[in-house]
Amino acid sequence: MTKPTCEDALVVKKRDLNNDYFSLVLAPFSGAKSIKPGQFVHIRLPSTDIYFRRAFSVASVNPAKKEVEIIFKVFGRGTKILGKMRKGDSLDLLGPLGVPFSFPLKNENAVIVAGGVGFPPLMFLAEKMIEKGHNPKLIEFFYGGRSRLELVELSRLRKMGIKLHLSTDDGSAGNKGHVTGPVEQYLKKNLKEKMKLFGCGPERMLKAVDELGLKYNVKGQLALEALMPCGVGICLGCVVHLKAGGYARVCCDGPVFEIGVVNIAS
Ligand SMILES: Cc1cc2nc3c(=O)[nH]c(=O)nc-3n(C[C@H](O)[C@H](O)[C@H](O)COP(=O)(O)OP(=O)(O)OC[C@H]3O[C@@H](n4cnc5c(N)ncnc54)[C@H](O)[C@@H]3O)c2cc1C
Ligand code: FES
Repeated sequence: MTKPTCEDALVVKKRDLNNDYFSLVLAPFSGAKSIKPGQFVHIRLPSTDIYFRRAFSVASVNPAKKEVEIIFKVFGRGTKILGKMRKGDSLDLLGPLGVPFSFPLKNENAVIVAGGVGFPPLMFLAEKMIEKGHNPKLIEFFYGGRSRLELVELSRLRKMGIKLHLSTDDGSAGNKGHVTGPVEQYLKKNLKEKMKLFGCGPERMLKAVDELGLKYNVKGQLALEALMPCGVGICLGCVVHLKAGGYARVCCDGPVFEIGVVNIAS
Protein backbone atom coordinates (compact mmCIF):
# COMPACT_ATOMS: atom_id res chain seq x y z
CA MET A 1 0.00 0.00 0.00
CA THR A 2 1.32 3.46 -0.88
CA LYS A 3 2.25 5.66 2.05
CA PRO A 4 -0.34 8.43 2.46
CA THR A 5 0.68 12.05 2.17
CA CYS A 6 -0.83 15.08 3.85
CA GLU A 7 -0.76 18.22 1.72
CA ASP A 8 -2.66 21.35 0.86
CA ALA A 9 -4.26 21.32 -2.58
CA LEU A 10 -6.20 24.00 -4.42
CA VAL A 11 -9.68 23.76 -5.84
CA VAL A 12 -8.84 23.93 -9.56
CA LYS A 13 -12.34 23.13 -10.82
CA LYS A 14 -15.77 23.17 -9.27
CA ARG A 15 -18.94 21.89 -10.91
CA ASP A 16 -22.46 22.17 -9.58
CA LEU A 17 -24.09 18.88 -10.53
CA ASN A 18 -27.55 20.06 -9.37
CA ASN A 19 -29.63 19.08 -6.37
CA ASP A 20 -26.78 19.88 -3.91
CA TYR A 21 -24.29 17.56 -5.64
CA PHE A 22 -20.88 19.06 -6.38
CA SER A 23 -17.64 17.94 -7.99
CA LEU A 24 -14.37 19.44 -6.79
CA VAL A 25 -11.08 18.85 -8.54
CA LEU A 26 -8.15 19.38 -6.17
CA ALA A 27 -4.51 19.84 -7.20
CA PRO A 28 -1.62 19.52 -6.98
CA PHE A 29 -1.72 16.45 -4.74
CA SER A 30 1.44 14.36 -5.01
CA GLY A 31 -0.44 11.20 -3.91
CA ALA A 32 -2.78 11.44 -6.93
CA LYS A 33 -0.82 9.05 -9.15
CA SER A 34 -1.04 6.18 -6.68
CA ILE A 35 -4.76 6.44 -5.85
CA LYS A 36 -6.80 3.38 -6.81
CA PRO A 37 -10.61 3.03 -7.10
CA GLY A 38 -12.19 2.50 -3.67
CA GLN A 39 -9.56 4.53 -1.83
CA PHE A 40 -10.42 7.80 -0.17
CA VAL A 41 -8.96 11.10 0.95
CA HIS A 42 -9.53 12.52 4.40
CA ILE A 43 -10.18 16.26 4.21
CA ARG A 44 -9.69 18.82 6.94
CA LEU A 45 -12.37 21.47 6.68
CA PRO A 46 -11.34 25.12 6.84
CA SER A 47 -13.39 25.81 9.97
CA THR A 48 -12.30 26.11 13.58
CA ASP A 49 -15.68 24.63 14.65
CA ILE A 50 -15.15 21.32 12.87
CA TYR A 51 -12.49 19.13 14.39
CA PHE A 52 -12.84 15.84 12.51
CA ARG A 53 -11.78 15.39 8.92
CA ARG A 54 -14.38 14.03 6.47
CA ALA A 55 -13.73 11.06 4.20
CA PHE A 56 -14.45 11.23 0.46
CA SER A 57 -14.01 8.46 -2.06
CA VAL A 58 -11.94 9.51 -5.01
CA ALA A 59 -14.11 9.86 -8.14
CA SER A 60 -11.26 10.24 -10.64
CA VAL A 61 -7.61 11.22 -10.88
CA ASN A 62 -5.42 12.91 -13.45
CA PRO A 63 -1.92 11.71 -12.49
CA ALA A 64 -0.14 14.02 -14.97
CA LYS A 65 -1.80 17.09 -13.45
CA LYS A 66 -1.76 15.61 -9.91
CA GLU A 67 -5.52 16.14 -9.77
CA VAL A 68 -7.99 14.36 -7.51
CA GLU A 69 -11.74 14.65 -8.00
CA ILE A 70 -14.32 14.17 -5.26
CA ILE A 71 -18.09 14.23 -5.73
CA PHE A 72 -20.34 14.90 -2.75
CA LYS A 73 -23.84 15.86 -1.76
CA VAL A 74 -24.37 18.66 0.74
CA PHE A 75 -25.63 16.83 3.78
CA GLY A 76 -24.45 18.41 7.05
CA ARG A 77 -21.99 20.93 8.41
CA GLY A 78 -18.89 19.62 6.65
CA THR A 79 -20.27 19.25 3.16
CA LYS A 80 -22.02 22.62 3.46
CA ILE A 81 -18.58 24.21 3.81
CA LEU A 82 -17.20 22.16 0.92
CA GLY A 83 -20.14 23.18 -1.26
CA LYS A 84 -19.17 26.83 -0.75
CA MET A 85 -15.52 26.35 -1.73
CA ARG A 86 -14.42 28.33 -4.76
CA LYS A 87 -11.75 27.92 -7.40
CA GLY A 88 -8.41 28.87 -5.80
CA ASP A 89 -9.43 27.92 -2.24
CA SER A 90 -7.13 25.52 -0.41
CA LEU A 91 -7.94 22.24 1.37
CA ASP A 92 -5.75 19.95 3.47
CA LEU A 93 -5.87 16.40 2.07
CA LEU A 94 -4.63 13.18 3.66
CA GLY A 95 -4.43 10.16 1.38
CA PRO A 96 -4.64 7.86 -0.39
CA LEU A 97 -6.23 5.88 2.43
CA GLY A 98 -7.91 2.49 2.61
CA VAL A 99 -7.99 -0.78 0.71
CA PRO A 100 -9.00 -0.39 -2.97
CA PHE A 101 -11.24 -2.61 -5.10
CA SER A 102 -9.61 -5.59 -6.81
CA PHE A 103 -10.04 -5.41 -10.57
CA PRO A 104 -12.08 -8.23 -12.10
CA LEU A 105 -10.45 -10.37 -14.77
CA LYS A 106 -10.87 -8.99 -18.31
CA ASN A 107 -13.29 -11.76 -19.32
CA GLU A 108 -15.44 -11.32 -16.22
CA ASN A 109 -18.82 -9.66 -16.25
CA ALA A 110 -18.80 -6.83 -13.68
CA VAL A 111 -22.15 -6.13 -12.03
CA ILE A 112 -21.77 -2.76 -10.33
CA VAL A 113 -24.44 -1.51 -7.92
CA ALA A 114 -24.34 2.16 -6.93
CA GLY A 115 -26.77 3.83 -4.56
CA GLY A 116 -27.00 7.63 -4.28
CA VAL A 117 -23.74 9.24 -3.29
CA GLY A 118 -22.05 5.81 -3.36
CA PHE A 119 -21.52 6.08 -7.12
CA PRO A 120 -18.17 8.04 -7.29
CA PRO A 121 -15.77 5.18 -6.40
CA LEU A 122 -17.68 2.82 -8.71
CA MET A 123 -17.53 5.28 -11.62
CA PHE A 124 -13.77 5.47 -10.97
CA LEU A 125 -13.59 1.65 -10.92
CA ALA A 126 -15.45 1.35 -14.24
CA GLU A 127 -13.27 4.06 -15.81
CA LYS A 128 -10.03 2.37 -14.71
CA MET A 129 -11.26 -1.07 -15.79
CA ILE A 130 -11.91 0.28 -19.29
CA GLU A 131 -8.53 2.03 -19.30
CA LYS A 132 -6.94 -1.35 -18.49
CA GLY A 133 -8.71 -2.98 -21.45
CA HIS A 134 -11.98 -4.29 -19.97
CA ASN A 135 -14.75 -4.39 -22.57
CA PRO A 136 -17.31 -1.74 -21.44
CA LYS A 137 -20.09 -4.03 -22.65
CA LEU A 138 -19.12 -6.43 -19.88
CA ILE A 139 -19.86 -3.74 -17.28
CA GLU A 140 -23.45 -3.65 -16.05
CA PHE A 141 -23.77 -0.45 -14.00
CA PHE A 142 -26.92 -0.35 -11.84
CA TYR A 143 -27.41 3.16 -10.43
CA GLY A 144 -30.26 4.01 -8.07
CA GLY A 145 -31.47 7.05 -6.19
CA ARG A 146 -34.59 8.43 -4.55
CA SER A 147 -35.58 10.41 -7.66
CA ARG A 148 -34.08 11.42 -11.01
CA LEU A 149 -32.53 14.46 -9.29
CA GLU A 150 -30.38 12.08 -7.23
CA LEU A 151 -28.83 10.54 -10.33
CA VAL A 152 -25.93 12.70 -11.48
CA GLU A 153 -23.12 12.44 -14.06
CA LEU A 154 -25.33 10.33 -16.33
CA SER A 155 -23.81 11.64 -19.57
CA ARG A 156 -20.33 10.89 -18.20
CA LEU A 157 -21.37 7.32 -17.36
CA ARG A 158 -23.07 6.86 -20.76
CA LYS A 159 -19.95 8.09 -22.58
CA MET A 160 -18.03 5.16 -21.08
CA GLY A 161 -20.09 2.79 -23.22
CA ILE A 162 -21.10 0.69 -20.22
CA LYS A 163 -24.57 -0.79 -19.81
CA LEU A 164 -26.33 1.67 -17.53
CA HIS A 165 -29.48 0.59 -15.66
CA LEU A 166 -31.23 3.36 -13.72
CA SER A 167 -33.68 2.99 -10.83
CA THR A 168 -35.49 5.52 -8.70
CA ASP A 169 -37.68 4.99 -5.65
CA ASP A 170 -40.38 7.29 -7.11
CA GLY A 171 -40.12 6.05 -10.71
CA SER A 172 -39.09 9.48 -12.06
CA ALA A 173 -36.23 7.82 -14.00
CA GLY A 174 -35.58 4.22 -14.96
CA ASN A 175 -37.08 1.34 -13.07
CA LYS A 176 -39.35 2.19 -10.13
CA GLY A 177 -38.15 0.75 -6.82
CA HIS A 178 -34.90 -0.16 -5.15
CA VAL A 179 -31.84 -0.62 -7.35
CA THR A 180 -31.33 -4.17 -6.07
CA GLY A 181 -34.59 -5.39 -7.71
CA PRO A 182 -33.23 -5.14 -11.28
CA VAL A 183 -29.88 -6.47 -10.07
CA GLU A 184 -31.56 -9.65 -8.86
CA GLN A 185 -33.51 -10.00 -12.12
CA TYR A 186 -30.25 -9.61 -14.03
CA LEU A 187 -28.47 -12.21 -11.89
CA LYS A 188 -31.35 -14.69 -12.30
CA LYS A 189 -31.23 -14.41 -16.10
CA ASN A 190 -27.52 -13.99 -16.72
CA LEU A 191 -25.76 -15.88 -13.96
CA LYS A 192 -22.28 -16.80 -15.18
CA GLU A 193 -19.27 -18.34 -13.55
CA LYS A 194 -17.14 -15.43 -14.65
CA MET A 195 -18.96 -12.66 -12.85
CA LYS A 196 -18.11 -10.21 -10.05
CA LEU A 197 -20.39 -8.00 -8.00
CA PHE A 198 -19.39 -4.55 -6.67
CA GLY A 199 -21.41 -2.21 -4.47
CA CYS A 200 -21.30 1.13 -2.71
CA GLY A 201 -24.22 3.03 -1.23
CA PRO A 202 -26.48 3.15 1.81
CA GLU A 203 -26.21 0.34 4.36
CA ARG A 204 -29.59 -1.19 3.46
CA MET A 205 -28.52 -1.41 -0.17
CA LEU A 206 -25.13 -2.89 0.77
CA LYS A 207 -26.83 -5.49 2.94
CA ALA A 208 -29.12 -6.43 0.03
CA VAL A 209 -26.15 -6.68 -2.38
CA ASP A 210 -24.27 -8.81 0.16
CA GLU A 211 -27.30 -11.14 0.39
CA LEU A 212 -27.58 -11.34 -3.42
CA GLY A 213 -23.91 -12.24 -3.70
CA LEU A 214 -24.33 -15.04 -1.18
CA LYS A 215 -27.67 -16.24 -2.62
CA TYR A 216 -26.39 -16.46 -6.22
CA ASN A 217 -22.88 -17.43 -5.20
CA VAL A 218 -21.27 -14.45 -6.95
CA LYS A 219 -18.06 -13.16 -5.42
CA GLY A 220 -17.36 -9.47 -5.19
CA GLN A 221 -16.66 -6.49 -3.01
CA LEU A 222 -18.51 -3.78 -1.14
CA ALA A 223 -17.23 -0.33 -0.18
CA LEU A 224 -18.51 0.66 3.25
CA GLU A 225 -18.87 4.02 4.96
CA ALA A 226 -18.46 4.80 8.66
CA LEU A 227 -17.73 7.81 10.80
CA MET A 228 -13.98 8.16 10.65
CA PRO A 229 -12.43 10.28 13.36
CA CYS A 230 -8.77 9.44 12.55
CA GLY A 231 -8.96 7.62 9.19
CA VAL A 232 -5.71 5.76 9.83
CA GLY A 233 -6.54 2.87 12.15
CA ILE A 234 -5.80 4.37 15.55
CA CYS A 235 -9.04 5.48 17.23
CA LEU A 236 -11.29 2.44 16.52
CA GLY A 237 -14.14 4.86 15.80
CA CYS A 238 -15.02 3.13 12.54
CA VAL A 239 -15.23 -0.55 13.56
CA VAL A 240 -17.77 -2.95 12.07
CA HIS A 241 -18.69 -6.47 13.21
CA LEU A 242 -17.48 -9.37 11.11
CA LYS A 243 -19.76 -12.35 10.43
CA ALA A 244 -17.05 -14.74 11.59
CA GLY A 245 -16.74 -12.80 14.85
CA GLY A 246 -14.46 -9.94 15.79
CA TYR A 247 -14.17 -6.49 14.29
CA ALA A 248 -12.56 -4.66 11.40
CA ARG A 249 -11.71 -1.01 10.95
CA VAL A 250 -13.43 0.44 7.90
CA CYS A 251 -10.68 3.05 7.42
CA CYS A 252 -7.73 0.69 7.04
CA ASP A 253 -9.03 -2.91 6.85
CA GLY A 254 -11.57 -1.50 4.34
CA PRO A 255 -13.46 0.49 3.18
CA VAL A 256 -13.57 -2.27 0.55
CA PHE A 257 -14.46 -5.72 1.94
CA GLU A 258 -15.26 -9.02 0.26
CA ILE A 259 -18.93 -9.93 0.04
CA GLY A 260 -19.99 -12.12 2.97
CA VAL A 261 -17.39 -10.83 5.43
CA VAL A 262 -18.97 -7.87 7.24
CA ASN A 263 -22.11 -8.05 9.34
CA ILE A 264 -23.76 -5.06 7.71
CA ALA A 265 -26.27 -3.21 9.88
CA SER A 266 -29.52 -2.15 8.20
C1 LIG B 1 -14.76 5.87 3.01
C2 LIG B 1 -15.80 6.96 2.89
C3 LIG B 1 -16.05 7.50 1.65
C4 LIG B 1 -17.01 8.51 1.51
N1 LIG B 1 -17.23 9.03 0.28
C5 LIG B 1 -18.14 10.00 0.11
C6 LIG B 1 -18.37 10.58 -1.18
O1 LIG B 1 -17.74 10.19 -2.17
N2 LIG B 1 -19.29 11.56 -1.27
C7 LIG B 1 -20.02 12.00 -0.18
O2 LIG B 1 -20.88 12.88 -0.34
N3 LIG B 1 -19.83 11.49 1.05
C8 LIG B 1 -18.91 10.51 1.23
N4 LIG B 1 -18.69 9.99 2.47
C9 LIG B 1 -19.43 10.55 3.62
C10 LIG B 1 -18.72 11.83 4.10
O3 LIG B 1 -17.50 11.48 4.73
C11 LIG B 1 -19.54 12.61 5.12
O4 LIG B 1 -19.78 11.88 6.28
C12 LIG B 1 -20.89 13.02 4.60
O5 LIG B 1 -20.74 13.65 3.36
C13 LIG B 1 -21.59 13.98 5.57
O6 LIG B 1 -20.68 14.92 6.02
P1 LIG B 1 -21.09 16.32 6.67
O7 LIG B 1 -19.85 16.85 7.25
O8 LIG B 1 -21.82 17.16 5.71
O9 LIG B 1 -22.13 15.89 7.78
P2 LIG B 1 -22.18 16.28 9.29
O10 LIG B 1 -23.62 16.32 9.63
O11 LIG B 1 -21.34 17.46 9.59
O12 LIG B 1 -21.57 15.04 9.94
C14 LIG B 1 -22.39 13.94 10.12
C15 LIG B 1 -22.29 13.49 11.57
O13 LIG B 1 -21.14 12.75 11.71
C16 LIG B 1 -20.27 13.31 12.69
N5 LIG B 1 -18.98 13.18 12.10
C17 LIG B 1 -18.65 13.62 10.90
N6 LIG B 1 -17.39 13.28 10.63
C18 LIG B 1 -16.94 12.60 11.69
C19 LIG B 1 -15.73 11.98 11.98
N7 LIG B 1 -14.68 12.03 11.16
N8 LIG B 1 -15.60 11.36 13.17
C20 LIG B 1 -16.63 11.31 14.03
N9 LIG B 1 -17.80 11.88 13.81
C21 LIG B 1 -17.95 12.53 12.65
C22 LIG B 1 -20.66 14.73 12.84
O14 LIG B 1 -20.30 15.19 14.10
C23 LIG B 1 -22.16 14.61 12.62
O15 LIG B 1 -22.78 14.16 13.79
C24 LIG B 1 -17.75 8.97 2.64
C25 LIG B 1 -17.49 8.40 3.90
C26 LIG B 1 -16.54 7.40 4.02
C27 LIG B 1 -16.28 6.82 5.37
S1 FES C 1 -11.27 6.06 11.81
FE1 FES C 1 -9.93 5.79 13.49
S2 FES C 1 -9.58 3.62 13.44
FE2 FES C 1 -10.79 3.97 11.70
